[in-house]
Amino acid sequence: MSGPRLFVANWKMYLTRPAARAYAKRLSERIGASRRIPELVLAPPFTALQDARDSDPAPRWSLAAQNVSAFPEGAYTGEVSAGMVAEAGCRYAIVGHSERRRLFAESSPVLAAKIARVRESGLVPIYCLGETEEERSAGREEEVLSRQVETLGADPAGERLIVAYEPIWAIGTGKAATSSDAAKARTVLEKLLAGRTGTRLLYGGSVSPTNSEELLEGSGMDGFLIGGASLDPDGFATIAGL
Ligand code: PGA
Repeated sequence: MSGPRLFVANWKMYLTRPAARAYAKRLSERIGASRRIPELVLAPPFTALQDARDSDPAPRWSLAAQNVSAFPEGAYTGEVSAGMVAEAGCRYAIVGHSERRRLFAESSPVLAAKIARVRESGLVPIYCLGETEEERSAGREEEVLSRQVETLGADPAGERLIVAYEPIWAIGTGKAATSSDAAKARTVLEKLLAGRTGTRLLYGGSVSPTNSEELLEGSGMDGFLIGGASLDPDGFATIAGL
């Protein structure tokens, strides 16, 4: 695994356009004159993509789409294509978030198609995976991760890829994985992704300014995908070590 630390703010269905502008301004202040900034990515709702952009001539953060269509274009009312979000300034696209899998019934073939569209548009996928509470209690974490990694089967092994381990029981629950849980998942994922190059592994699930330092050091992860705590630019900046 390689590259500098990476912190992704997943705003989900929160923050209006003015709030996104205020966020960008505050984040910019927090970055200030820091010389060593990690890689920062904001994933706002589609409507706020333009507002969440870094207006600095040398942008210090990039943008991610929270979702893209599995289709390149066509009569798919309500869908937004990977090409469209690339045009809107995104560099990354989140695929396979557990909320998409669970609430919108996105299955492995759909996710594989989305990853292919993301690649065709020159974006880098942030592919999310992780087990449920029941799967964890049954000791099936490894089997679940292995099945979810199979979705990447047709994705070229030499392309940059971000994989976010997000155990479902830790998302939005305030109950983050321990650093040793995350370290264990990292070891499993390193083995499953061994044939690839240019992959970075993130942890996600109830990361907060209070637990982030210990989690990052103890897990060996390359960074975080942050939901709730990323809605506050100061929280996000603190987690990112700014
Ligand atoms: P959370 O969400 O940080 O609010 O737990 C993480 C995610 O869903 O990506």
